[in-house]
Amino acid sequence: PGPVVVAIDGPAGSGKSSVSRAVAQALGYAYLDTGASYRALSWDLLMRGIDASVAASVIAELGAFEFRIGIDPDDYYVRVGSADVTEAIREPRVTSVVSLVARIPEVRAWLNDRFRAIMASTPFDGIVVEGRDITTVVAPDAPVRILLTASEEARMARRSKELTSESAAAVGEALRSRDKADSRVVDFMNAADGVTTVDSTDLDFAQTVAAVVEVVHSQT
Ligand code: C5P
Repeated sequence: PGPVVVAIDGPAGSGKSSVSRAVAQALGYAYLDTGASYRALSWDLLMRGIDASVAASVIAELGAFEFRIGIDPDDYYVRVGSADVTEAIREPRVTSVVSLVARIPEVRAWLNDRFRAIMASTPFDGIVVEGRDITTVVAPDAPVRILLTASEEARMARRSKELTSESAAAVGEALRSRDKADSRVVDFMNAADGVTTVDSTDLDFAQTVAAVVEVVHSQT
């Protein structure tokens, strides 16, 4: 049998990335941040001055797009060519175009192929894969599928703590509009059949990690 796949989806600001990474560390599994890949492609387009709203230009760029992502949760990095973009892909200028990139079906298919190859070849016993369409499209047959949610209020409060340079109102508006755009492409607000919902609204970070680990143990 291949590695155990733990699929986790959820909206922006649900704490998915940090929770998923900590869950991978707790279980000794690999960690795949699929959103980082959409962000890396967006960063690459910005650097090359390619308009992310023109699908044909984005698709043409895929042939030259070389990215690498660390799947060891203790050694996380994102690279495009020789550039380390681990930090840069979190910048607002990247975040503001990523939904345009992610709505292109050819981009999704291209990245999904890479995600599946990474999942199949990981040397770890398992892999926690996190994004928006992992439970439904990328790994619908995963033995563990989780929707990680939190109230909009809680998500905004967490995100505005992270980004001190932006006002809380601007952060809230950016989150809302990104979720709205992303929701038109994939549904990550409602749990699909067989997907377990973990609501972190009233949980702190450690409690959320423990709740997810508990679901993994009960389903594997
Ligand atoms: O998770 P994160 O906020 O880093 O994701 C960045 C963006 O990548 C999302 O806003 C969405 O547009 C896109 N995404 C996606 N499908 C995934 C993961 C991310 O469309 N599985």
